[in-house]
Amino acid sequence: MNKALRPAVIAGNWKMNKTPSEAKKLVEELVPLVKDAGCTVVICPPFVDLSVALEATKGTNIKVGAQNCHYEKSGAFTGEVSASMLKEMGVEYVIIGHSERRTYFGETDVTVNKRTKAALAEGLKVILCVGETLEQREQGITAELVAMQTIIALNGVSAEEMKNVIIAYEPVWAIGSGKTATSAQANEVNAVIRATLAKLYGEAVADATTIQYGGSMNAANAAELLSQPDVDGGLIGGASLKPADFAAIVAAAK
Ligand code: PGA
Repeated sequence: MNKALRPAVIAGNWKMNKTPSEAKKLVEELVPLVKDAGCTVVICPPFVDLSVALEATKGTNIKVGAQNCHYEKSGAFTGEVSASMLKEMGVEYVIIGHSERRTYFGETDVTVNKRTKAALAEGLKVILCVGETLEQREQGITAELVAMQTIIALNGVSAEEMKNVIIAYEPVWAIGSGKTATSAQANEVNAVIRATLAKLYGEAVADATTIQYGGSMNAANAAELLSQPDVDGGLIGGASLKPADFAAIVAAAK
């Protein structure tokens, strides 16, 4: 269980927030605050902000990601964006399977798997989200459910491709709710995910994979969560829209 084997990654999921001009301003505020980061810093703005985000982060240590991509290269999929489109723009990361996609847009473990494979085939780095609802936690099926989500999402993904996969454990009940998982709860489920990766790919891949926690992570609780042996970073929603708060979380990740 050696955290030094895997990069710490703090990623901001802006969700459906910020117009292009607002995005430019936010990135410009963020750049000086995170320039000395001891971890990988990623921001994931809405699709229409990607151009300005790429431009404003040029020559900085901030990487840019999208919040979703489709599994086909092109075609009759109104409203969707393909992995190759993102790749050609210069986008490096993509969030796949966020619980809001699963809840509001009919995303399933199967479509999450297809999108993951398409993104990896284009050479994008995937931030793959898994996590249980409050009802599932109360039923005592968190470990089994999260393991199953991980297994299905990674079906057909090779050990080599796992170098480009980050997993984000995001308990649905903790997202945007102000109810953060305790550091023990986060570490416990992250360890389940790592054990699942070990079964699928062996210990070396499991030890090398960054597993984030997400769900109401903020400037005040980040250090405690990130100090856990199996918590290698964070996927940050609300707090990623406030430069000082996001920078404080980045500073807490070493
Ligand atoms: P939150 O969102 O930090 O606002 O809880 C996290 C996420 O949904 O990725």
